[in-house]
Amino acid sequence: MIIAVDGPAGAGKSTVCKILAKRLGFVYLDTGAMYRAFAWALDTGSDGRSRQLRAGLDENQALELLERIPLLFFIKENKLEICYGERVLSEELRSPEISEAASRISQLPAVREFLVSWQRRLAEQVSIVAEGRDTATAVFPKADVKVFLTADLQARAKRRFAEYSEKGISLSLEEMQERIRERDEADSNRDHSPMRPAEGAILLDTSRLSVEEVVDRLGEQVQKLIEAGSPAY
Ligand code: DC
Repeated sequence: MIIAVDGPAGAGKSTVCKILAKRLGFVYLDTGAMYRAFAWALDTGSDGRSRQLRAGLDENQALELLERIPLLFFIKENKLEICYGERVLSEELRSPEISEAASRISQLPAVREFLVSWQRRLAEQVSIVAEGRDTATAVFPKADVKVFLTADLQARAKRRFAEYSEKGISLSLEEMQERIRERDEADSNRDHSPMRPAEGAILLDTSRLSVEEVVDRLGEQVQKLIEAGSPAY
């Protein structure tokens, strides 16, 4: 079974999808983390020109790099594990710089094709709650449940601001708002698989809903499907 949840940064996708996946015993597939991993790997490449590459990577360079960057994705103990060679990636993917670099490199078709093929392969093994920008439109157009979560810019910036403050990353609320706005614009206006609600998606504005309320609403939809005898059950 596949639940595909898309939406802009700070709409609450990660929090909600993690809880929902746990409740259902599904794997939480954070596709954004996969784009972040590629952006991070560019900084770590052995050739020393990677920072520059990350800023102005073109399609051919991306293709060449994808052949040699040792990025691997596994499902381990019901979780997505992202590895660069032997190193397991996690918190290093969460900086504001990586957020922006991930948005930039996600515009390249070669990068998208590479990661989408991983995402589909992973979903063949287990039931998943996938979240990202194009999971319901492009990656899993036949997902059992499709959702588009949004929230107003202010609410989203406040959430990210609180997350970053907790981690000791200092960005003002205004700066946060501006960065999120720019990233949304780039993610929505790119040529390949832009962020938009899938046809038939449940649209949910989370600005004034608690995490529990959002999880409950989505949980209800999934429950209905299970009771109706979804082919996966
Ligand atoms: O969800 P996130 O903030 O971790 O995603 C980081 C960037 O990766 C986002 O700005 C755009 C890109 N992305 C994408 O293009 N498609 C996805 N399915 C997920 C993320």
